[in-house]
Amino acid sequence: MSHSGRLTVDAARLRGDLETLGKIGRAPGAGITRTSFSRSDMQAREWYRASCRAASLELRVDAVGNMFAGAGSDAGVAAVWSGSHIDTVPDGGAFDGAVGAVAALECVRRITEEGISLSRPVRAVVFADEEGNYSHLFGSSALTRGFDEEQLRGMVGRDGDHLVDALAAGGWDVAAFGDTRVDPESVYAFVELHIEQGPRLEAMATQIGVVTSIVGLGGAVVEFYGRADHAGTTPMTGRRDPLLAAADLIAAMPAIAASVSDVAVATCGRVDISPGSANVVPSLARLTLDYRDPDAARLGTLGARLEEKAAQAGSRHGVRYAWVPDVPIAPVELNPRIRSAIDRHADSLGLSTLAMPSGAGHDSQNMATIAPTGMIFVPSKSGRSHCPDEDTDWTDVTNGANVLLNTLIELATSGIS
Ligand code: GLV
Ligand code: MN
Ligand code: MN
Repeated sequence: MSHSGRLTVDAARLRGDLETLGKIGRAPGAGITRTSFSRSDMQAREWYRASCRAASLELRVDAVGNMFAGAGSDAGVAAVWSGSHIDTVPDGGAFDGAVGAVAALECVRRITEEGISLSRPVRAVVFADEEGNYSHLFGSSALTRGFDEEQLRGMVGRDGDHLVDALAAGGWDVAAFGDTRVDPESVYAFVELHIEQGPRLEAMATQIGVVTSIVGLGGAVVEFYGRADHAGTTPMTGRRDPLLAAADLIAAMPAIAASVSDVAVATCGRVDISPGSANVVPSLARLTLDYRDPDAARLGTLGARLEEKAAQAGSRHGVRYAWVPDVPIAPVELNPRIRSAIDRHADSLGLSTLAMPSGAGHDSQNMATIAPTGMIFVPSKSGRSHCPDEDTDWTDVTNGANVLLNTLIELATSGIS
């Protein structure tokens, strides 16, 4: 218990767990690479399994790698879920996802240790592949929207490997995919704690962000098909260079985003060219794009304008193009009553709050399509994230976990009021 009489997490245990997890997949002097189903992700999953075992919690892993921890069975009662992810981007940090995943586990441990009697169970969840090595928000998409076997078999990772091979290597039975969705009736509510990944809380010296909405996410792979030629002998005017078309598109992205709204963003985080030799004009340029806007209609416009530019760039440089869009993930508003519960618990813990939208994508936006959902943010130092410098004060991590714990207990006892 805290001095205010409210239940609190074991801050030292939470920090110890995050520090242990933060060593898995870390390269010396660099960030953490724990992309989904990689060797380090499997190690992190093993660590999570052992932590559940040590706390006498039951762990269930579904057909696509989502993990659910709790005490006892659900006995047919809709459960309160909380969690996040433990996979990272390549060369990422120790807080994105890990904070919410480990804090949820800590909350379930504290509720169990205190023997708190609940009207509905609390489950800690780890979503598979949130960072989209195979597909953005993969695990929560599988649970909410669902993937059929053909879609799962078609998923290819950044390294060109197939999801099904990664799953099979990890011991999953890929012959038994079945329906990946969860029964929405079985989820009473979902709450995710996460680092802000932006600068606002720090700039306003505020401890807790109460998330109001989450940005809409779009993505696409654009391929430009040109013609390989000798880099020394082929005149500049006689080439069909797909990288020049790709460069036109990339250079136009800031203006295209600005033409849609002042908060729209568009990023090309990956360029692959073939055959990839300094003395060969490329034959193929493949761009992986990510674009976002908080408004669904504007997100559609942004995607359409990027594709239009790809077509123009292709024709200007005499190369064909293909545009293969991801399934867009809609922006969502988070549940107002869970928001006010978060706000109230922060207030009674003596913590300052700010209502704010999220520009990052989260599993919460999928969960919000099946259950009342809320999100808690804690400050990110200098707003840095998706990089090795990602950092959050341990006090802020503890504050966020305490707000989460009290919110979960309220949802699991009196319910959404
Ligand atoms: C998740 O980190 C995202 O916003 O891409
Ligand atoms: Mn995350
Ligand atoms: Mn992330």
